[in-house]
Amino acid sequence: MGVVRRRTVITALGGTVAAAAGTGTARAEEPGSVADAQREAGPYEAGPYEAKIKALLGRMTVEEKLGQLQQMSWTGDSGPGGGQTDQAEKAARTGRLGSVFNIYGAKHTNDLQRLAVEESRLGIPLLFGLDVIHGFWTTFPIPLAQASSFDPAVPRTDGEVAAAEARSNGVRWTFAPMMDVTHEPRWGRIAEGNGEDPYLTATFAAAKTRGFQGDGTHLDAHNRLAACAKHFVAYGGAEGGRDYNTVDTSEAHLRNHYLPPFKAALDAGVATVMASFNTVSGVPAHGNRHTLTDILKGEWGFDGFVVSDYTGIQELIVHGFAADGADAGRLALNAGVDMEMVSSNLTDHGRQLLKSGRITARRLDDAVSRILRLKFRLGLFDNPYVDEDAAVTEPTQQARAAARATAARSMVLLKNDRGALPLHPGVGSITVVGPFANSTDLQGTWAGPGAGTFPAVTLLAGIKAAAPQAEVTSVTGVNADGTDTSGIKDAAAAARAADVTVVVVGEPSAMSGEASSRSDITLPGAQEELITAIAATGKPFVVVLVNGRPLTIGGWLDSAPAVLEAWHPGMEAGNAVADILFGTVDPGGKLPVSFPRTVGQVPIHYNHENTGRPYDADNKYTSKYLDLPDGPQFPFGHGLSYTTFTIGDPVLSTPRISSRALRKGDTVDVKVTVRNTGERAGDEVVQLYLHDPVASIVQPVRRLRGFRRVSLAPSKSTTVRFRLAAEDLGYWTHDTGGQFELEAGDIDIYVGNSSLATGKTTLTIT
Ligand code: NOJ
Repeated sequence: MGVVRRRTVITALGGTVAAAAGTGTARAEEPGSVADAQREAGPYEAGPYEAKIKALLGRMTVEEKLGQLQQMSWTGDSGPGGGQTDQAEKAARTGRLGSVFNIYGAKHTNDLQRLAVEESRLGIPLLFGLDVIHGFWTTFPIPLAQASSFDPAVPRTDGEVAAAEARSNGVRWTFAPMMDVTHEPRWGRIAEGNGEDPYLTATFAAAKTRGFQGDGTHLDAHNRLAACAKHFVAYGGAEGGRDYNTVDTSEAHLRNHYLPPFKAALDAGVATVMASFNTVSGVPAHGNRHTLTDILKGEWGFDGFVVSDYTGIQELIVHGFAADGADAGRLALNAGVDMEMVSSNLTDHGRQLLKSGRITARRLDDAVSRILRLKFRLGLFDNPYVDEDAAVTEPTQQARAAARATAARSMVLLKNDRGALPLHPGVGSITVVGPFANSTDLQGTWAGPGAGTFPAVTLLAGIKAAAPQAEVTSVTGVNADGTDTSGIKDAAAAARAADVTVVVVGEPSAMSGEASSRSDITLPGAQEELITAIAATGKPFVVVLVNGRPLTIGGWLDSAPAVLEAWHPGMEAGNAVADILFGTVDPGGKLPVSFPRTVGQVPIHYNHENTGRPYDADNKYTSKYLDLPDGPQFPFGHGLSYTTFTIGDPVLSTPRISSRALRKGDTVDVKVTVRNTGERAGDEVVQLYLHDPVASIVQPVRRLRGFRRVSLAPSKSTTVRFRLAAEDLGYWTHDTGGQFELEAGDIDIYVGNSSLATGKTTLTIT
């Protein structure tokens, strides 16, 4: 073809947005340069707290400074087995502790805070952190489910409710949002993120950050939490989906795929960042100066602090990167980690490292300043305690309603033959079968403290409440992961006797999340046999899946008239599922991740590159498996509704635009009309994908760059407008200093209701 393309190169700092706004910075320089020293000193000399920070630093001993870098875990029990509680109390009294996590409760936090504020020499308050991932008292659906809503209001609402509840209980900092893009359904932590797409994840990361922090200007408010963008970076690339595993990535892939959510979170003002457990192309993330200092603190100008993950600094030794604890502390601090979680290499060896010149006083002061800066922003110096009488102690009605609405909004109708769903509210008898029919194990991984106190509404209870006139029974049939099939015959008998059966199958919450990878991602145990037995009755039935990752849905899919992906829906699970089953709420969620046909296809994702021999059923020598059809079982963006929609062809505001104009900030609008052609009100998600067919680095066959969830009454239509800017149309190259290219040529634009969208137009960049 020999297409010669003119290139527009934009260097560093957030690509074209920054460049267009004229805020581009110089390239990251070599360690040890002047620019490097400036980064370490922090670029925010003019900030409102800098004078106070400087004054405080001037009064601190080396031990007190190192103490600020230390975070310990608290369990509340002292004595043997009491975690770091005793140690934490001692360190708080002596000013050798910056932060404590795993602690909540107004009285608990106040009691510990008193030791630091009233007994330590300088009275610097402690910063209390907690993993508030999808709710504190009020458990919202897991983040992967939330991504299925394709509605950023969902994570924002979760963040707002969680922040108010947690903050009133003494917590000021959450280790969320998690934003690890991944193509690995085997990886248990896929449940904590937003799936396989960087754009969707970036949008959700920003929304959740704003939910926790607002616009970031009033972190001292009684209903705000400081957020933490994690895990920095590329953790989702874990080889084989085994947790903590190696990641090898090119610079271009790092910047196009893994970094965008972090940049979006930073632009939304995220206060902190957590380093990840993995290596990034041979260099552990905790010792990675390129990602932590060159990119995060240099190119992006991050003025918050970087916390290690749990013993992540100590693990530099096990990785084979650091010789011993002192070396680990040195490497991590010099790479850009500011606070050490649980292990204590910085406090143990810091003085010696300083003395021998292996760390500098300037870098130590920089790390301490970053931590103190957040303590000031959170209002800790003025008001270190929380009002014990004002602590929120349970979910409010409003919060519960939000948990229910967001859970329903996050469900995906995968299949619905011949209108099997919605169920008729006047149905005479329903049986709910399966291990999760009458189970409260529906809150999902990393549920907050509320999960233990406020159990999830079971599906049985939710269905009973939604159909009060129906006779509703329940049979477990099989355990979630056991092999005992003796209960299946009772379940089949109940199905035979009922007008309709709801089969509720999936994964226990503990089967996804950290350290919960699976090599086989089918329904565990004998659950498939249960479905097969229910299908054999010949009676109407629907399947509800409750799980924390994409599953491979085997042979039973053909026999099931309808399948609803409910994920782990949180505390209002049963009510939210019933809302969808009975059609009170139209299912409008879409898959944020591809569902493979078999685990042998993994990784399989919509945003892959083309090979030189793309799939062709009639040509053996093309990219495929001999024993499988092409593509996943369900593609990214897939999801049905109870009504039908048509989406018109995309219309451009201009067919051509120059790269110069784009660089200056001009944009192109894409307009598309969506119409509800059915007889019910319902939701559709209009999705926009791009493909650059000729590029100097091969581009994904599709990449999402716009989505909008709309609700439409029957026969109504609306026009959705997407705005494309330089940052949508270009891509990052392999340049380690950060180079964003905007090439002249055609860009294909697809619009539709999944990643298989067929509506197409072409924009020409001149
Ligand atoms: C380890 C996990 O990787 C991280 O996500 C979490 O925030 C910390 N532990 C603290 O619990």
